[in-house]
Amino acid sequence: MKIKDIEVGSLFLAPMAGVSDVGFRRVCKMLGADLTYVEMINVNALLRDNAHTKELLQTCDEETIKVVQIFGHDANVIAKAIQSEALQKFDIIDINFGCPAPKIVKNGDGSALLKHLDKIADICKTCTQATTKPVTAKIRIGFDEGENVAVQVAQICEQNGISAITVHGRTRAQMYSGDVDYQTIKKVKQSVSIPVIGNGNVFDKQSYEKMLSTGVDGIMIARGALGKPWIFSELKGLSLPNKFDVIKCHVDTLKKYYSEEELCITLRKHFLWYTKDVPGAAKYRLQLATTKSLNESLDILKSLF
Ligand SMILES: Cc1cc2nc3c(=O)[nH]c(=O)nc-3n(C[C@H](O)[C@H](O)[C@H](O)COP(=O)(O)O)c2cc1C
Repeated sequence: MKIKDIEVGSLFLAPMAGVSDVGFRRVCKMLGADLTYVEMINVNALLRDNAHTKELLQTCDEETIKVVQIFGHDANVIAKAIQSEALQKFDIIDINFGCPAPKIVKNGDGSALLKHLDKIADICKTCTQATTKPVTAKIRIGFDEGENVAVQVAQICEQNGISAITVHGRTRAQMYSGDVDYQTIKKVKQSVSIPVIGNGNVFDKQSYEKMLSTGVDGIMIARGALGKPWIFSELKGLSLPNKFDVIKCHVDTLKKYYSEEELCITLRKHFLWYTKDVPGAAKYRLQLATTKSLNESLDILKSLF
């Protein structure tokens, strides 16, 4: 599949705030993810030169095509962010029209924009005119329960220069639970000629096939990759890695960027996901969640895998 003129493959790791750090993205990429997204970046914070925001923009060499997701609600500010020095290394810019988090919605960002289709049109038009790079969008199917604006939004995006659209088949009201609306994803695919990426509840081969049956051009995985970056190898039929080696690679990558103390905090959640359902892990999980020693965590993980 091509996004504008860039060949991108078809199996993507989703942007996940607080989770898809550069170490995790690196292992996903090495294990078969075709595209990995830097988590959503607040355009206002970026333009203020916020240090934490800049830290999130770290990428690795394995990410041969670099994608960043940004969010905001003012078309001119978003366009200015796209043109900023900090985003110049990225090949594709994705705009978030789906985040359901109350603090994001309260500011009129993310999924709140699904209530203001004129603003979506303005953002897409202004941003695609501000750069020659492909600009893509990630949406939910609507805001309130039972509301469905997906086809309309996808068409607005296409008419205003967007190069591909990812559809998470849920409303904002559903947050992360309830059924994925495959029918709507299929309708979106039939309603636009830009590539459509299906997202929602892909956890294994069966759910992957189900998403594929909508006719989408690509599939994006978020929670299915937590503690399981080898899901990309499984779905592609690639040989499976040694799991401890993967965890070690994730840790070693982050060591370049963080102090041991920061690392322990950043990695804690990952260690708990890596050990979820691993036989014999239950008795170590409290230790993994509390220890301030990275070596102690790695010793436990080595013994478990
Ligand atoms: C912890 C977490 C953080 C997320 N952060 C983002 C984000 O930064 N940008 C975004 O578009 N979606 C974000 N999402 C939503 C996912 O990208 C995805 O659309 C959603 O989880 C549905 O896919 P899944 O069923 O494969 O998890 C996040 C999801 C989770 C669980």
